[in-house]
Amino acid sequence: MSSEDMYLLYHGLRVPKETHSLESLKFAEDFTFKDDDVVAVTYPKAGTIWMQEILPLVLNGGDLKPIQSIPNWDRVPWLEEKRLSVVVDQLESPRAMVTHFPYHLMPPSFHTSKAKVIYVMRNPKDIMVSSYFFHQMAVFLEDPGTFDEFMEKFLEGRVMFGKWTDHVKGWRHTDLGDRIMYITYEEMVQDLPAALRRISDFLDRNLSEEAIQKIAEYCSFKTMKSNNMSNFSLVPKIYMDSDKSPFLRKGVAGDWKNHFSSEQLARCTSVIRKELEGESFSLPWSL
Ligand code: A3P
Repeated sequence: MSSEDMYLLYHGLRVPKETHSLESLKFAEDFTFKDDDVVAVTYPKAGTIWMQEILPLVLNGGDLKPIQSIPNWDRVPWLEEKRLSVVVDQLESPRAMVTHFPYHLMPPSFHTSKAKVIYVMRNPKDIMVSSYFFHQMAVFLEDPGTFDEFMEKFLEGRVMFGKWTDHVKGWRHTDLGDRIMYITYEEMVQDLPAALRRISDFLDRNLSEEAIQKIAEYCSFKTMKSNNMSNFSLVPKIYMDSDKSPFLRKGVAGDWKNHFSSEQLARCTSVIRKELEGESFSLPWSL
């Protein structure tokens, strides 16, 4: 299948046809946000499904029922994907959602609401590796070719949801004030309970230390990997072939070191540095 058959172009952004449609994108555009909604925003492979586990647990004080009975895509649906219109009426308030949308494509009602946002960033080199393997297992995505070829596509933004640097720049320059919180994947890997405390404070949840520890256990890579509601084992192999690469693949920071050649590192660093030149925000990793 050519990439034209696999992606829709939405305001110039590639989105996979398997999970998105013109109707679902219109549904997102017209979506009415509520003030107590919570949205986790990620560039693909920055930790989306991790937030689909974390948010319900933090919002409901550690009740395991949602994460053990509802698949992640229905429990914390993507704003732009087909499933939202199917499950929206079943979402309990405060509703939790995820999105890969860049800031400028968020719907009008998002801006006028008081919905809170958690923007998750991840080292782009690890995103690239994670995405490369994801493109191999997700049958509805383009064949990534060699890692070298995929890196070029990634750096040029010829991948789903466009350039990583554009996504980050857009979400780092918002007028959302204290409605937005920034967190990194690496921070969550390093000290999940501390990250959960930050998230819980941001969402005005006064969680006990016992609840934090329990949530950390259920959001660990190991537990999520064995949770059928979160590990995509419910998705038929014709769509996602976990024999090629599991969705929950490694779950570590710094795996790029096992995949980048010194030439690839130099190329990637120079492109990303150039695109972020003059930016006032700093990144938590050296590029
Ligand atoms: P890797 O491919 O590097 O393992 P997304 O959900 O945005 O598609 O991101 C998927 C990435 O997040 C995968 O990275 C996956 O393993 C990782 N991930 C998901 N849950 C995790 C967890 N509990 N701990 C660490 N990494 C996790």
